[in-house]
Amino acid sequence: MSRRNQVLRNSHSEFERPGFVFRKEIASRGANLMLHCDDVPLPALAKRYGTPLYVYSATAVRQRLKAFEDAFRDVAHTICYSVKANSNLSILRLLAKSGCGFDVVSEGELERVRAAAPQTVSKIVFSGVGKSSGEINAALKAGILIFNVESESELSRLAECTEKLRKTARVALRVNPDVAADTHPYIATGLHKHKFGVPIASALALYARAAQAKYLKVAGVSVHIGSQITDVAPFEEAMIRLADLVRALRTQGQAIEYVDVGGGLGIDYRQARNDFAEYVGNYARAVTGPMRGLGIHLLLEPGRSILGPAGVLLTAVLYKKQNDGKRFVIVDAAMNDLIRPALYHAYHEIVAVVQTRNLSSQETVDVVGPVCESGDFFARDRELPEMEEGDLLAILDTGAYGMVLSSNYNSRPRAAEVLVSGKSVKVIRRREKVRDLYVAEL
Ligand code: LLP
Repeated sequence: MSRRNQVLRNSHSEFERPGFVFRKEIASRGANLMLHCDDVPLPALAKRYGTPLYVYSATAVRQRLKAFEDAFRDVAHTICYSVKANSNLSILRLLAKSGCGFDVVSEGELERVRAAAPQTVSKIVFSGVGKSSGEINAALKAGILIFNVESESELSRLAECTEKLRKTARVALRVNPDVAADTHPYIATGLHKHKFGVPIASALALYARAAQAKYLKVAGVSVHIGSQITDVAPFEEAMIRLADLVRALRTQGQAIEYVDVGGGLGIDYRQARNDFAEYVGNYARAVTGPMRGLGIHLLLEPGRSILGPAGVLLTAVLYKKQNDGKRFVIVDAAMNDLIRPALYHAYHEIVAVVQTRNLSSQETVDVVGPVCESGDFFARDRELPEMEEGDLLAILDTGAYGMVLSSNYNSRPRAAEVLVSGKSVKVIRRREKVRDLYVAEL
């Protein structure tokens, strides 16, 4: 049995964490334990807005961001939230209100930030291995903080663009520190075999070239060693190498002001951690230790660690079926709504939203969606309380890399998203209509 459901059975109070909590709800037929987001019971949201539905807790987002701010309070830093994790305008606005800058990787993300929080443009870092001239120009005109350049060719392209526009760009090179981190191969980035960054050994020469360009101002170094990394040692290793590079660059006369640490701090998808502040504290020590005494301004690009546990995907059971003894729970969300299980074999905890029936009657099921692919599953051989048609399930830790990776595959309209703050609920993306699916087509 998955630990979280076990915890739930034994003592629902242990499940409590910022954002999502089981509470007694006096319903018409007696008192039930119901999963709440902040102060709002999830069944009420399902009833009002339908399913599948992404539900985010503003409280959890704020608390997680605050944990980051507290952990880094002793060093000059800016948190540039990685927009790719969840790019909803209301989420960006919430983060901007709490003081965040942003890490963007496309013109689309840049424009999202400008639409949500135009005042934060001076706190935008532009990352990504394939920025087009159009995207570079848009960022130059907007006046972002810094470009994280990933190759010699991109450096030349950026120099050309700045000359045409006569605008100066602050530049960092994203270096590849050749540090191995234990994560899924699709999201590891820090080894020389990966497409990201420039080898640390060739960085000095490239910096010297950058310094020659009239409108480029060398200002930083950057790194991102991968995502969903839960051991802080590889971060420290990368920062030791980066600190050496900073010293070498300064000896060359380069004015290095910023060190961009990237993102990548993982979350625990198996069980909720209630020691997040301590965990981020360890991460902060690993990252800042090697930089001590360098008078650096740190840029941090967390995505998942801020948003992941702050969201759930709420889905309703459509049908149950058995094939030769194998049991399936078919739900109304599918791989087009949440692709992580299909793409990375990612584990997401799933809980029954209403805990009424005798919880000792568990069954082992595959939780699957309606899409015509065997890869359309959320859980395999998972023990869950016995469900009935119409029952609600919450797929946990889906606030990051959930909605942003959704698609219209099988011509399924995208889910709606709601943001809950205390008792208040705001629809932050309306459910797509069938017509939205083909409105851009001829
Ligand atoms: N900075 C850079 C340059 C990145 O490439 C990424 C993520 C981040 C920051 C944010 O990393 P985070 O703190 O969220 O780990 N779709 C995958 C994750 C892909 C991450 C790509 N880059 C997943 O669902 O696990």
